[in-house]
Amino acid sequence: MAIQWSGLGPELLLRLDRYSGLPLRSQLEDGIRDAIRDGRLQPGERLPSSREFARELGVSRGLVQECYGQLLSEGYLDSQVGSATRVAARAYPAATRGGLGGASKSGLGEASRALTPAAAAPAAPRLIADFRSGVPDLASFPRSDWVWAMREACREVATADLDYGDPRGSRALREVLAGYLRRVRAAAVVPDDLIVCTGFAQGLNLVLEVLSQLGVRRVAFEDPGYGDDETSTSVRSAALAGAPAVRVPVDDLGADVAALAASEARAVVVTPAHQSPTGVVLAAARRHALAEWASRHDAYIVEDDYDSEFRYDREPVGVLQGIAPDRVFTLGTVSKSLAPSVRLGWVIAPPALSGAVAEAKLLSDRGTSGLDQLALAALFRSGRYDRHLRKMRGVYARRRGVLIGALGRHAPGVRLTGLAAGFHAVAHLPEAADEDAVVAEALRRSVGLYGMAPFRAIRGAAPPQLVLGFGLTGERAIEAGIAAVADLLRPNR
Ligand SMILES: Cc1ncc(COP(=O)(O)O)c(C=O)c1O
Repeated sequence: MAIQWSGLGPELLLRLDRYSGLPLRSQLEDGIRDAIRDGRLQPGERLPSSREFARELGVSRGLVQECYGQLLSEGYLDSQVGSATRVAARAYPAATRGGLGGASKSGLGEASRALTPAAAAPAAPRLIADFRSGVPDLASFPRSDWVWAMREACREVATADLDYGDPRGSRALREVLAGYLRRVRAAAVVPDDLIVCTGFAQGLNLVLEVLSQLGVRRVAFEDPGYGDDETSTSVRSAALAGAPAVRVPVDDLGADVAALAASEARAVVVTPAHQSPTGVVLAAARRHALAEWASRHDAYIVEDDYDSEFRYDREPVGVLQGIAPDRVFTLGTVSKSLAPSVRLGWVIAPPALSGAVAEAKLLSDRGTSGLDQLALAALFRSGRYDRHLRKMRGVYARRRGVLIGALGRHAPGVRLTGLAAGFHAVAHLPEAADEDAVVAEALRRSVGLYGMAPFRAIRGAAPPQLVLGFGLTGERAIEAGIAAVADLLRPNR
């Protein structure tokens, strides 16, 4: 039963479910506690008398008295002899809600703050266009396909498969995935060497763990790449695993393998199919040089294959793993193809090391959700995954076209680089421009622009650029957003 508590100041919705199996008293206590914690009941507000309340709820007065007594002793309520029961004056400020809300006090960094519940985050300004990169079009998540796939998963899961399983993940998904990755990414992979995980982030942690067991003490990252500040979970993970980051410059041909070879790194994290964020592809000669570096130095390559599904002008280049399966860990994710919140990804491990990755996965969390894995397998098998990708390729290719067109019309002369792939491109600002000032002025005009600086290990060391994402921003918003900031981008302003 639901009671609307009105006419007493607060409007408090209390739900008592006589069939839930939970004692009515604890339901009532929890309901009042929650209302106080989330501010529906404010300090000093009066509660109904136990008699009134019992009548409204259809419970005994003694039950309400017991409940009030408990909340009085816990400090949520206050009562003076002869006067009404009220919410205690010091009751639970909003800042203590939401678990991680006090992140700054706890010493958690920016990245953790970004991951705190939405309730704790300051309200984001409404933007005409948000060119944030790294995020797909969340509004296009194939909700009905996912609902269908989850139903399929629940329907078809064998009872035994509801137990803890192989830490590598569901056999059914690994078989489908191995076939898909062989076909679409030219990977040299069998299901035994695939480990399903919760996205690139976990995959990298598992690989770093195995690398540190192998005695790897230095890991290289691309520059620009994950950046060096505390928002870079990848670089921080490496540091935590005892593998401080070495930086490898990226030029028009991708990561500079000669610079890598000159460093002490024995592992490197690269984005060969579509460098993040510059958008270049690793040149064929560099691919071979990289594989050779790994075999000569007993080193390993971690291939971040994050958005290769989205190439618009031709077939994407196959994974590097295909030419050096003993030296490459390839990490895949559905964060770009479906949505980050799905938290599913995979590691293709060198055959000699897949057992060690599976062991790290077991120790980390005993395995990824089996039902989610079966749902993803159903999406692949049914052709719904491919259909979604086909649709989204069209969407992003059109947005990219609109971005190029809008820049051409409103800010002619601005150079845009990066493959016809993924959902971001790099705009080159006039040499004298101040990246941060352009970003700040754009925000004042309600346009979200993002500089290259956060992706660089050494700030201010390179020409001013913007990383323009179009995953979150539709065609009309791209046009309007670029029109609103065009004068900030033009070479001769
Ligand atoms: C370069 C790169 N790799 C991988 C990912 C995906 O990470 P995850 O699978 O943990 O969501 C992202 C997400 O933004 C990314 O930018």
